[in-house]
Amino acid sequence: MADSSRYYTLAEGCPVANSSTAILARNGQGGGLGLLQDTQLIETLAHFSRERIPERVVHAKAVGAYGEFEALADCTDIMALSFLNKIGKKTPVLLRVSTVGPESGSADTIRDVHGWAMKLYTDEGNLDWVFNNTPVFFIRDPIKFPSLNRSHKRHPQTHMTDSNMFWDFHVGNPEGIHELLHLFSDRGTPKSIRHMNAYSGHTYKFTKEDGSFKYVKIHVKTQQGVENFTREEAIKIAGENPDHLIKDMFEAIENGNFPVWNVFVQVMDPIEAQNYRWNIFDMTKVWPHSDFPLRLIGKLTLNRNPQNYFTDIEQAAFSPSTMAPGFAPSADPVLQARLFAYPDAARYRLGVNYQQLPTNAAKVQVYSPFQRDGAMRFDANYGSDPNYVNSSLKPMRFYNEVNGLSAKSLSVFTEHEKWAAEIASYTSSIAEIDFVQPALLWDVIGKEPGHQGRLIGNLAASIKDVLSSELRQQVYVLFSRVNKELGRLVAEKTESMIED
Ligand code: HEM
Repeated sequence: MADSSRYYTLAEGCPVANSSTAILARNGQGGGLGLLQDTQLIETLAHFSRERIPERVVHAKAVGAYGEFEALADCTDIMALSFLNKIGKKTPVLLRVSTVGPESGSADTIRDVHGWAMKLYTDEGNLDWVFNNTPVFFIRDPIKFPSLNRSHKRHPQTHMTDSNMFWDFHVGNPEGIHELLHLFSDRGTPKSIRHMNAYSGHTYKFTKEDGSFKYVKIHVKTQQGVENFTREEAIKIAGENPDHLIKDMFEAIENGNFPVWNVFVQVMDPIEAQNYRWNIFDMTKVWPHSDFPLRLIGKLTLNRNPQNYFTDIEQAAFSPSTMAPGFAPSADPVLQARLFAYPDAARYRLGVNYQQLPTNAAKVQVYSPFQRDGAMRFDANYGSDPNYVNSSLKPMRFYNEVNGLSAKSLSVFTEHEKWAAEIASYTSSIAEIDFVQPALLWDVIGKEPGHQGRLIGNLAASIKDVLSSELRQQVYVLFSRVNKELGRLVAEKTESMIED
């Protein structure tokens, strides 16, 4: 029997008799004129036209899931992060994994870096880890980021992706060579998200209440083992199921086959940073594990699919600036720029009150009364509380009494760090040292049977579409600076593909 207490309504509550009807002035011959009084039809059409919000300018195509982080080691000697202060402590997590350049409707097995955005809803506020599946990056000057991405996206005239632009950018900005080797290796086409690692890339800081800190890099390593597609497999699957990575992850979680990652840190004392061979604020470089071994801190398990993609994943906003006490940014200029770029993007994409959206809201008490009003404010907006600082009318007793915390102990910044700096313009320049780690990576790739050959094939399949032979020569020179044999093999393979 139909439940008469359950019925459709308009968005403001008025019951409607039928979900799919229109009110018309009928002419008796099967036609009819629409009426402005048909609120149901007008609201339905008007809302549909406004369903899309701007997709992320990068990292638009993604899969997301919920899970938990479990602390597996006592780390109190190096940091004050509350979610890591007790072995066995569990913290809820939201993870969003994306490709970078292509749009939301694109195939997710296209060769690309993959983003790894993780929101830890800790008991001292949210902490976002906005990482990639590669340990290095293409640039170290933040102003190049829009150019980098445009060169990987669509040509302004043809609206097609374009190898000429891609390689022209990288010849002109060769500091990306280390990341290029990662991208064109097997790891550029992961077989599934479950079989992929992720890395902070940037140096961050673990801080303690006394103001001391350690530099850290974070590594997220799959327990399922790293597995990748070959170029041919990735291309085939892109045609068969452009949502392959989403499907794999959704179905695994739905079937109770929960993926797990171990989370490690490399830890460096600030004194060691001063004379270290590598600039730790340059994200085109790694810290070799032989210098700074991995230290296990916890594990991540994904165990729940989103209920609704739009509200849980599309409306999620991640930012390296979302930090919990005990975690802080380093002086990496790219990271410093990112601290601005993400909240700025979220305000544009989701609106100024994006932090209130359920997927972004902290799971702890939030009292931030100097952030008021704005479009789509949908909580009590701090009622009559003073909206200006240092009020004698109603001091912020709420904060201290409810939480029992003092602001001093909560600072994410290391109080003793002093900066006396000259304001100077800076553009990084290329030196031979920039090719040392790529050369080591080429050798590491050589240890896996057939991998160097696949890397060369992957590069050639992209470089062959560069029309100018002069630009192609410049690309070969770039790879020769890593290893002469690599440059020669890439040239040979590419030119033979062009002749065929
Ligand atoms: C100057 C350098 C960079 C700038 C300006 C930048 C900017 C952005 C912007 C504007 C977005 C879209 C955010 C949104 O609409 O919500 C984004 C997304 C993202 N970026 Fe970056 N980015 C930079 C470098 C990096 C690096 C080095 C990494 C990884 C280590 C990274 C990882 C990500 C990830 C994972 C996302 C997707 C976040 C999500 O799932 O919502 N980005 N970036």
